[in-house]
Order: sequence, then C-alpha cells, then structure tokens
Amino acid sequence: MLSARARTAESSAIRDLLRHAESPGVLSLAGGLPSAAMFPVDDVVRAANGVLRDPSTLQYGLSEGSTELRTIVAGPSGDPDRIVITTGSQQALDLLGRVLLDPGDDIVVPDPCYVGARQALGASGATLVGVPGDVDGLDTDRLADRLAAGLRPKAVYVVANFDNPSGAVLAPVRRRMLVALAERYGFIIIEDDPYGALRYAGTEIDDIGPGSDRVVRLRTVSKTIAPGLRVGWLVGPQWLVDAVVVAKQSVDLHTSTVTQAVAAHLLGQDGWLDGHLAELRPWYRDQRDALVEALTEKLPGAAFSVPDGGMFLWVRLPDVDTAGLLPSAIRSGMAFVPGSAFAVDRDLGELLRLSFATVDRSQMGGAVDRLARSLARAA
Ligand SMILES: Cc1ncc(COP(=O)(O)O)c(C=O)c1O
Repeated sequence: MLSARARTAESSAIRDLLRHAESPGVLSLAGGLPSAAMFPVDDVVRAANGVLRDPSTLQYGLSEGSTELRTIVAGPSGDPDRIVITTGSQQALDLLGRVLLDPGDDIVVPDPCYVGARQALGASGATLVGVPGDVDGLDTDRLADRLAAGLRPKAVYVVANFDNPSGAVLAPVRRRMLVALAERYGFIIIEDDPYGALRYAGTEIDDIGPGSDRVVRLRTVSKTIAPGLRVGWLVGPQWLVDAVVVAKQSVDLHTSTVTQAVAAHLLGQDGWLDGHLAELRPWYRDQRDALVEALTEKLPGAAFSVPDGGMFLWVRLPDVDTAGLLPSAIRSGMAFVPGSAFAVDRDLGELLRLSFATVDRSQMGGAVDRLARSLARAA
C-alpha cells in the first residue's frame, strides 16, 4: 500500500543499533542533541508565560511566519519578506527538496553528509552526488572538475560552519569559489548553518556570498536556544521564498505560533542572545577539550582535527571497521556513529563521529576508556 516514495525511504541498521545507545548506563557520544543542561529554561518559561497572555498567540498565523519574528531575525539590514520561518531547519531542507528538485535532477552534497539532509533532499527522487572535502570543507576544485566534465546540479548543499559530521569550516577562498561556480553554472547554494553561532575559538568567517541571489541560508534556534521549539528560518531569493511559502501551506500551514512568539520574545530582547551565547560557548569549548584530552591520552592511534566550534569530532581509527565495532562498543557501555552512516559515495568505514555535547565532562574519560576496551577486544 505504501507509495513509491515511502518504500524507498532509507531505513538504517545503524539507527536500529543506536536505539540501544539510549539504554541507561550507556555513555553515548552518538547523539546529535545539544546539551539540555544548557537550555535557558527560566527564560523560556518567562517568555512563554508572557506571550500566552495574548490570545493571538494561540491563533492561526501566516505561512511565512510571524512578522515580528521575521523582522527580528532579518535584523536592521535584512528584508523580512525574504524570510520564511520553518519548523526547524530540517523542514527547510524538506521544503527546498519539494520546490527545487525533480526526479532525475542532480544535487551535490558533501561526502560525508548530514543524514537528515540526505533523507530530505533525496526524497525528491533527485540523485545525490557526493563531493568529498577536508578540514577546509567541500573541495571546490573537485566540484569545479565535475562541473567542467558536464555535471549540472540544481543545487549544492553545504554546512559551511562546523559541519555535521566532519566539524569542517568552509575556507573563505572556497566560499568565494562556490559562489563563482554557482553563477557560472546556474545552481543554488543551500547553506545550512545550525552551528555557526557555536564558535568558541578562532575568528568569524563571512557568510557565503553575502547578498547573492544564488544562496539560500538556513538558520535555527535548535542549537542556540532549544530544538524542542522547532523554530528555524530560511533566507533566500524572492522567487524561491514565494515557492517555499506555497509548499509550506500544504505541509503544516505554519510553524507553531506559540514557539515563534517565545523565540521572538527572547531574540527580540536587546543583548539576550549574546548573553546566552557567552555562557554556551565556553561550556561547549570545555566539553570539546575534555573529549580531546581523553582521546589523546587513551586512544593515541586516533586521528582527528580539533574544531573551533560545533558539537562533533570526526575521528579516524586506521584499519578499523567502525560499523563492525559499534555492537561491541555498545556492549562495553558507550556509543558513537560510524562514518558509514554519513557516506554518500565514499567508503568512510574507518571514521566515526563523536559528539561532545551531552556526556558529562567527568564521564568523558570513561566513555573513551570503553571505546578503547572494545577496540582492544576487536584487535
Ligand atoms: C547540519 C544540520 N542541519 C539541520 C539539522 C536540523 O536542525 P533543526 O533542529 O533546526 O531542524 C541538524 C540537526 O542536528 C543538523 O546537524
């Protein structure tokens, strides 16, 4: 009875295994969740109490999102009409897949790629073309070669800041090259940016193609306030924004008016976000440092680079099949996500993603000890 689209939706053995990672006693470095310990609970409760006194908060709203929130996230130099509030940036990916892609189209994605993007963009029936990267993000020279050889993608998807899973930041020269390629070959750049605000070292890098009509940017409060609000937004060229609003009408009419109002209340307070980020950033940095320290001490064979932000370490264990190792790691009481879960066309079997966001710092060493034990057993 299922539609062809539902029948081809990915199901994953790794996802099934990782369900065990949620069992009590398992120190999970697998999840992509931000730390609940850092949610600004009191501020959210105060904001909710305030906005719920206005009955219009409980009414239907505009499909493009509340004018108040769009005006706030646009900032003084932005245009609220070029913004659609989405139910997290995951919905923006789904909507872009619906309005941009037809079966048979090509879309370039990084290899490795965020699993949710692969699912949302692949659901359109378009072909995902993986282009590898390195610590400087998507390899734009390789992309240029593929384009010169005839590849004509409708879009290129990137997580330019602290990529999930690789942690990479797209270098400024590659950002400029990507925009030049988009103009030359006529594709759209989908810049998904949930982690950019979680920079705790190094210097800020300019957005990809500021002001360019070739770029659609996705932002979210999931990693800066809380993912349960399900509030994100998309900023793009007018023709694309208009099409996304029509698609969104049929998907969910609009994002929750209640959580939009909460987000607007918080983001609209002068200095609130900066104050909150000033607490989040050093906290995540200390989490990262605890994991880096544990790996350096207990797993000297592990190779990784240390990201300046985000939530993930992308680790290579030479000559180890990380997917094969996972069941034994879970039995030892820790979990990670094997590289193969993020693979598009490449073999990423020696890699794994470790999140340093949610395990208590005092237990980070214990989690890596368990990983080291399961590796020793496998050797
Ligand atoms: C790269 C990337 N994009 C999008 C999302 C989804 O974010 P949201 O909660 O805003 O839907 C995530 C969540 O982990 C992510 O890592």
